Amino acid sequence: MPEHIVHILPEQVASQIAAGEVVERPASAVKELIENSLDAGARSVSVEILGGGSALIAVADDGSGMTRADAILSLRRHATSKIRSAADLSAIRTLGFRGEALASIASVSHLRMQTRRTADEHGVEVAAEAGNIEDTRTCAMAAGTRIEVRRLFFNTPARLKFLKTLATEQGAIAEAFQRIALANHHVAFHLTADGRTIFDLPRANSALERFRQAFGPRIASRMLAFDLDRPGIRAQGLAATSQESFATGRMIFTFVNGRSVRDRMLIRAIEQAYQTLIPRGRHPAALLFVAMRHEDVDVNVHPMKTEVRFRNGGAVFDVVYHAIRDRLADQTENAPVATLVDTSAAGCEAPAPSTDDAATGLITTASMGEDAGAGQSANASGDSVANPRGDAPLRLVPDAPNQAAFQRPLSLAYDRDARSGGGAAHPPAPIPMYSRLRVIGQIFAGYIALETEEGLLLIDQHAAHERVTFEKLRRELRDGGIRTQAMLAPVSVELNPARASQVHGALSELRAMGFDVEPFGPTTLLLKGAPAVFGPEGGAKLLADMIESMGDNESGFRGGGEAAFENWLKQLACHGSVRVGRVLELAEIHSLLAELDRTEFKTNCPHGRPVHIQFGRGQIERMFRR
Ligand SMILES: Nc1ncnc2c1ncn2[C@@H]1O[C@H](COP(=O)(O)OP(=O)(O)O)[C@@H](O)[C@H]1O
Ligand SMILES: [Mg+2]
Repeated sequence: MPEHIVHILPEQVASQIAAGEVVERPASAVKELIENSLDAGARSVSVEILGGGSALIAVADDGSGMTRADAILSLRRHATSKIRSAADLSAIRTLGFRGEALASIASVSHLRMQTRRTADEHGVEVAAEAGNIEDTRTCAMAAGTRIEVRRLFFNTPARLKFLKTLATEQGAIAEAFQRIALANHHVAFHLTADGRTIFDLPRANSALERFRQAFGPRIASRMLAFDLDRPGIRAQGLAATSQESFATGRMIFTFVNGRSVRDRMLIRAIEQAYQTLIPRGRHPAALLFVAMRHEDVDVNVHPMKTEVRFRNGGAVFDVVYHAIRDRLADQTENAPVATLVDTSAAGCEAPAPSTDDAATGLITTASMGEDAGAGQSANASGDSVANPRGDAPLRLVPDAPNQAAFQRPLSLAYDRDARSGGGAAHPPAPIPMYSRLRVIGQIFAGYIALETEEGLLLIDQHAAHERVTFEKLRRELRDGGIRTQAMLAPVSVELNPARASQVHGALSELRAMGFDVEPFGPTTLLLKGAPAVFGPEGGAKLLADMIESMGDNESGFRGGGEAAFENWLKQLACHGSVRVGRVLELAEIHSLLAELDRTEFKTNCPHGRPVHIQFGRGQIERMFRR
């Protein structure tokens, strides 16, 4: 029978309880130890693990080191050099601040610490078991600190039982290590596991260089630098071009004031910036650094400090979203066609292609999504059109040049880093000005073939036109509403009786899309005008197609909300755009390319499929064994 008497737990038990929160698994111990090294101003951190971290975690740094007294004190709970009072908690500038990590780790392991300040003649070595200091002696060592943690969780069998396989724990360590390394490019990092080097990251000059060290030159050459500085909040970093996408969100890294955080809102802001640019269900690669006033973010909300709370989350969302979205809007900017000439000079050298390039013969790695768009569905619902017309015409009417002015802050150092990022063996895949390229012709009545300095470029005419019309529709919508052009004569459109009443209930939605419609009997609509972007000729067919895809929509004819309406605009753009299968005149090709160059997000159709793919010159030459 337990005695029901309240008592204060012994320090050691309290530490073990805290350890349960702070040190969930070996990776959390690694993270805490590395963060201590960074807080100590280390320029180089090296980590060694054995047995997935359970047998040994050793972290050595060249940071400030500690005095003998501090080394001993540091293993006690709530011993910290980083804050002094509760007031300091409201503006934390270091990674650590609770003074719990070392005590927690020590309480569940055999720990040995060696540390020396530059000013001191000798170092000191402290050995502890389950948090009890067993031995203290002087030692010879270079300035800095080395902490060895053996047999983690040896005295907490419950925790030990919950550890995953060695490989999983090692993977978690490598990921935690990588996240910290990405945020601290000016520090050298080294990780070995069971004697094998996993990461060897020398000091880097930029986040991009560190990114390249960590993930290789191919993907690094596809990253665009972004930087948006607003009062109190700055969002900068690297975002992959929309030609890249990934099956999971694991290539998204978010940091707030240098601290790696998992924050749903930040991730949503990034993903949203890629909306309509990459296929639904796919994810971008991004490295995001948010810098803000320390008072505006609370980092003291999570035991492992991996979550934060923003004072004004909406403002942070906006800055992050716009920083990336505006950068993606014109991916041409930092990669003018002129640079193509330079990089292609090395083209005949036939550099070793990266694996996926070699497999497909493509430079691009744009991935096709499942989302096939509504365009391919046949008109099977029974809605019939009084004046059916074949194909959507390509409009030659010159459009006003794209007015959207994007305010991109000057961040020269960062941009310069980004531009030199290619490396000869992996020329970046810049987005060309299509209209400046030589038109070879049209193939399969669906693709426009262009010659670039890099090779052969094919444009999907439907995807291209779809993006052009979608952006026009969106712009009109922003500027007060989709413009309608009157038909020469009203046309009656017969409705499928099964759907007629629903359609009649959705007239305001159809009108918002630019259809000037009126009910004309129970199963008939009278169409007097159609969205001007497409011209009036195909209006009736377009309306029938739209009615059909709206009916197939999950939410029915009443979408509700901006997202649903945007979805309908995508379908409208799709139905109204030139199809694969239509032979284009040369003048139409030139007009389409010119329009495309004036269009934001021109690299992908609104469903996220690529507008162009490129066959590298080197690859073509290799196929001919030149
Ligand atoms: N690698 C290191 N180099 C220098 N000092 C260290 C190092 N690791 C820990 N310390 C000292 O030990 C103290 C306690 O560390 P820790 O338990 O992680 O708490 P916190 O980081 O929250 O202060 C730190 O405040 C710091 O003064
Ligand atoms: Mg710490």
